Amino acid sequence: MPNVVLSNDFYANFKDWLEISNTPMEIYKNLLEKEDFMFLIDSLKKMLINEKFIVLQNTPFSTAKQLEAFVYFFGEYYGNIEYTGIKVDCSYTGCASHQLTLHNDDAIDLEKQPNIGFIQVITEDPVFDVENGIVVIRELIGKLKYDAPELLDELMTHEVSFRSLGINYESMDKKVIEIKKPILYLEDNQYKVRFDLDRIKYHYQSTNEIQAYSESKMIYDFLKHCNEIKKSIFLKKGDILIFDNKSTLHDRTECSIGIDIGSRIFSREIFVSFAI
Ligand SMILES: [Fe+2]
Repeated sequence: MPNVVLSNDFYANFKDWLEISNTPMEIYKNLLEKEDFMFLIDSLKKMLINEKFIVLQNTPFSTAKQLEAFVYFFGEYYGNIEYTGIKVDCSYTGCASHQLTLHNDDAIDLEKQPNIGFIQVITEDPVFDVENGIVVIRELIGKLKYDAPELLDELMTHEVSFRSLGINYESMDKKVIEIKKPILYLEDNQYKVRFDLDRIKYHYQSTNEIQAYSESKMIYDFLKHCNEIKKSIFLKKGDILIFDNKSTLHDRTECSIGIDIGSRIFSREIFVSFAI
């Protein structure tokens, strides 16, 4: 497991560096001058190329502005820090308490799908040790080549329809986006993935087309093989999961909802952000 943990001394210095600045750009410029911090960034980038995901433990980040400054070091900022708390009445998948199926983020976006994703836990679940799963597509290919070569061929060639209203929950423009693409593909000589079961289902729900049995079986087998090589990650408060969004899939086990006096809800809270 590619795990990077900050020492207590590093944590203390890091906390001091963050306290001086206000805006994400000020925080970014301040961190840019810290040799120790740049060594951390350089190490994370090198590991990300090889491993495709990293768990960074023991960071002092506590605000969206701080995570935004951190994201600047990895590429073009995708536009927002999404704050997600598990909700009783949730209108999109990110805040649902049920488990989330393996997916990569903004799979519907053919032009600017983010390259790197960041999930930071702000508040841990009040009951469960919530697990994030990660599948590295390179490892899936290695498995399918020998276990199921025909399935691999089908995943590389059969085009699946995805449908969405806007790119993601934050999109102001809720126009219909419809794409038809294979789940696995090659880009720059590397295997990549495009998968979001909710958006595949949404295509069939809204068009009344009947999904062919062969396609649903392909997806069933794909997920079965993915789940066999999935790695488990248990993020604590302050930990950040950094992942190559096109070379991995991720999911999440179920969460709980706490109810306090004054009709107040308490639950797992995360920041999510991206770099292109
Ligand atoms: Fe996600």
